[in-house]
Amino acid sequence: MRLIAANWKMHKTQRETKEFLESFLKLLGNPADREVLICPPFTSLCVASEILKDSPVKLGAQNCYYERQGAFTGEISLPMLKELGCEYVIIGHSERRNIFLESDELINKKLTACLEEGIRPILCVGEKLEDREAGLTFKVVETQIRLALSGIESYTDSLDIAYEPVWAIGTGVPATPEDAVSVHRFIRELLGKLNPKSEGKTRILYGGSVKPDNAKEFMKYEEIQGFLVGGASLKPESFVQIVNSF
Ligand code: PGA
Repeated sequence: MRLIAANWKMHKTQRETKEFLESFLKLLGNPADREVLICPPFTSLCVASEILKDSPVKLGAQNCYYERQGAFTGEISLPMLKELGCEYVIIGHSERRNIFLESDELINKKLTACLEEGIRPILCVGEKLEDREAGLTFKVVETQIRLALSGIESYTDSLDIAYEPVWAIGTGVPATPEDAVSVHRFIRELLGKLNPKSEGKTRILYGGSVKPDNAKEFMKYEEIQGFLVGGASLKPESFVQIVNSF
């Protein structure tokens, strides 16, 4: 089943979350053949969880720490997220990697903790503009995936991957669907090598300037099993249009 996920980043207070979700649920109806996920900031998880509990829409977090509890000021653990009804966590978003300097090693620990805790992680990977210009797209993506999945290769069916070229995030310039598809195929092949016993349950999402008017172009391709949407997920009308383009 395709997954269309909203990454709100550092947007929306609790009041704004409530307003969004009330109108989004009215517009959405019951999307039977796709999974819809909202990842609000931590401070909105509680209110979102109340509103979404009897709805078809799932709840996720944008980050987590890998220890279950302890002296880790400012961090949020997976049991805390689970208690709020989170079924997903976004791990290794390029903003976490580049602004907060998250290493591949830390991302690997977070993924391992998610799998142990039974929360489905969405691992984000993608090249920077200079990597693409140097012809390093596949190499960068392969390295990120190999390091992220080190020691947990046999669990690929329990996670999803978002391919998000960094130069396409928040710029209004998405990858062409053809370029995205070639990276998605490459990721699928790599997953097959890392986990030959895989049942192919990993969904590979595209993210980076997905909008209502370009979503249809991507969804023509079976290699694209969903989206991770930032800016265009902040308005109920535009996010619903993207959800319905599949
Ligand atoms: P964008 O962000 O849709 O605003 O480009 C996507 C993301 O960062 O997940």
